[in-house]
Amino acid sequence: MDMAVSVSTGAALFAGSPRSRACVARPAHEVRPPLVSPLKWAGGKRRLVEPYLRPLWQGHEHRVLVEPFVGAMSVALGLRPERALLNDVNPHVVNFLRELKRGLKITIPLLYDHDYYYAARERFNDLIARGEFRGSEAAQLFYLLNRTGFNGLCRFSGRTPQRFNVPFGRHKTVNFQEDFARYRAAMKGWRLSNRDFEHLEVGEDAFVYADPPYDGAFTAYSGQSFDWDDQVRLAEWLASRRCPVVASNHATLRIKRLYRKLGFRIREISVARSISCTGGREAAREIIAVKGFGR
Ligand SMILES: C[S@@+](CC[C@H](N)C(=O)[O-])C[C@H]1O[C@@H](n2cnc3c(N)ncnc32)[C@H](O)[C@@H]1O
Repeated sequence: MDMAVSVSTGAALFAGSPRSRACVARPAHEVRPPLVSPLKWAGGKRRLVEPYLRPLWQGHEHRVLVEPFVGAMSVALGLRPERALLNDVNPHVVNFLRELKRGLKITIPLLYDHDYYYAARERFNDLIARGEFRGSEAAQLFYLLNRTGFNGLCRFSGRTPQRFNVPFGRHKTVNFQEDFARYRAAMKGWRLSNRDFEHLEVGEDAFVYADPPYDGAFTAYSGQSFDWDDQVRLAEWLASRRCPVVASNHATLRIKRLYRKLGFRIREISVARSISCTGGREAAREIIAVKGFGR
């Protein structure tokens, strides 16, 4: 078997932690070219992949990448693991990802037009009201609304049945993809799930990357908010996983305190936001917290 020596570089990303000198012989893992998500997503983490997440993932490629908050899948598509468990509580994004894995075919016109947008939104909301929001038509409408709505936001009114209420977006250009074959191939060994993060089964062979709604930010991706109790519930859940865990969040004082108290090492970084709730793209202070990488 082709063997390569991999050095645990992840620890070196964290100031104050001694760089790991331990060399572990592991099978060489093919680095597959990153793919870009077909969706826009508030809080998408494509920009974190190369500078911060890939160095942490290196040497762990044999593990199952578990993303409890997968959103638009930017991290999984960046790292391209062989095996992954990707979860989100938002049933519409998960339906889209499931259809992508099945080899989504576009059969509706993909147009960037004000009246067409509102007709598509109405049809999408009808499907939701009838409980028919799973399957190819809903996924195609979701894709159209995501590309042509305001900032790619995914927001619902609180009423039951929920209604997608994002207005038409003003974009200079809109590029649609119609051929999703490469995603189908990339997602072959990946499982998708749609539940609250706490119900995920995470084995010791996992590598968890958790990217929850940020403390103090837009949190209503699915009509439910993610409040401070959820942040605490998540940090405690992550701390008790028996595998390497990486989490990102806003660098608020209480988040830093919470993760430190639970034994995480923290690095503070400044990243340009992909999309914030106001549509702003200003830089934000964030943290990357890690646990389970050894010293
Ligand atoms: C910051 S976004 C993740 C973005 C993703 N990392 C990306 O790069 O596209 C947070 C995600 O958490 C999901 N979410 C919110 N509450 C959740 C919960 N209790 N369990 C699982 N997912 C949840 C939201 O639907 C949203 O997609």
